[in-house]
Amino acid sequence: MKILVRKQNARTSETEAFIAFCFENTDAFTGTVKELDEGCNGVLSRIKGAGDFKARMNETIVLYTKDSIAPKRIVLVGLGKKEEFTLDRYRGAFSAGARKIRDLAIKEFTASPILEDIDFSVSEMSEAAVEGVILGLYRFTPYKTKNDRIESLERLTLIADNKNIPSIKNAVHQAEIACEATCFVRDLVSTPANEMTPSTLAARALKHCASTGVKIKIIEKAAMKKMGMNALLGVARGSCEPPKLIVMTYNGGAKTANPIVLVGKGITFDSGGISLKPSEKMDEMKDDMAGGAVVIAVLCAAAKLKLPLNIIGLVPAAENLPGGCALKPGDVLRSLSGQTIEIKNTDAEGRLILADALEYAQRFTPAAVIDIATLTGACVVALGEYLAGMLGTDDQLKNELRHAASLTGEALWELPLWQEYEDLLKSDIADMKNVGTRMGGTITAALFLKKFAGAAPWAHLDIAGPAFISQDKPYIPKGASGIGARLLIRFLKNRIERQNE
Ligand code: BES
Ligand code: ZN
Ligand code: ZN
Repeated sequence: MKILVRKQNARTSETEAFIAFCFENTDAFTGTVKELDEGCNGVLSRIKGAGDFKARMNETIVLYTKDSIAPKRIVLVGLGKKEEFTLDRYRGAFSAGARKIRDLAIKEFTASPILEDIDFSVSEMSEAAVEGVILGLYRFTPYKTKNDRIESLERLTLIADNKNIPSIKNAVHQAEIACEATCFVRDLVSTPANEMTPSTLAARALKHCASTGVKIKIIEKAAMKKMGMNALLGVARGSCEPPKLIVMTYNGGAKTANPIVLVGKGITFDSGGISLKPSEKMDEMKDDMAGGAVVIAVLCAAAKLKLPLNIIGLVPAAENLPGGCALKPGDVLRSLSGQTIEIKNTDAEGRLILADALEYAQRFTPAAVIDIATLTGACVVALGEYLAGMLGTDDQLKNELRHAASLTGEALWELPLWQEYEDLLKSDIADMKNVGTRMGGTITAALFLKKFAGAAPWAHLDIAGPAFISQDKPYIPKGASGIGARLLIRFLKNRIERQNE
């Protein structure tokens, strides 16, 4: 969708539909809505006054202007109570308006991103507006051959007065890149596993990052063997699909600056292996590369935004199947770090591939390491479908991630890296087992990763719940959510601001 920014006022905007917003508990309109209301002889006030439109959150109503003003229609969207307003609600409201307009089969619409008397900056509001529209309108359609009426919106015009145009233009640019990253993740996660193998994941990374300034190296099976990445190789053994380690480098920072290393779990299908999962919902395990897709998307976005940072992206990719050569419970693997791991459950495969990737990360002498993974069902039990779990060794890093999450609306909740539980990973014959007890499974998984994470500040994001959601959210259609992409981009941007202070 094309997004234009123009100096214009609402009443004279030649458009099929103008989206306007209002709060539930304010009677007098302000700003754009007031202007439109006056232009239509107070019809908006009358509808609100009569209680036909209460302006509850995401409530929408379409009005026909009968040529009294230039826009043909007004789509009025409720914002709920003013004191409860957040940028995330604003994203949802823009999404609701845009979806309504799409349903009308109109091709273009106009809005003003700026609300009066609200404690957010023009940039924040504009970014949220664009995010709501693009993310809310997203659909995954490549496999639909018989859908004859897929409507799509082609153009959004954002209007403002002269002084705000530069910041809105910049906000649109920032939001478009963040949304492209999110939609890239959604596309990859939604793609069925027969077409999203470790090899195609690597190919998509190469294609997506082409001519962005991100360098990509794919470490193949033979090289993994030479290096001793036996944890990653072990997981891949049950499948005909060869594993790949995708190594991405973006050098936008000073030559001497240590890189931030992002590591993403890239299991393109998780059947559980010999410790086979039940078949109900096993199809959803195509989402087990969501963390990997986030890392690819974020590196590419960082390059497009020309962030002055050095960033490494690592995506260990494999398919976890119970083939004839598959890893068996009781097997012992010697990981890249030299530490040995007794396999108690082949379904705890994510931590194995991450173990080798985290060890590999040490070669870059990182300033910080963040891994993102659909790692444990226990995290979904603990935090539900919307919240991601966060565990890590460094309070500062965790605070930065928490702050970024609060801005992007991707909810994070910290769980403790409870050292006493480490004993649960003790093995009789190897340095550790790959599972602890069922209880506290997210914590023991993170404690396992910690053994490979090195000395640099490290945080682990468990996105098993929110990576693939079962119900629509205001601007996230059900299915692949793309969680993590906007969060990590925001985190990186904030790091730069901190650096410059
Ligand atoms: N990919 C799964 C975790 C998962 C579960 C992601 C539900 C998304 C939704 C992971 O590899 C896994 O199977 N973990 C096991 C670990 C257990 C065997 C210790 C789990 O959570 O059951
Ligand atoms: Zn598993
Ligand atoms: Zn898994």
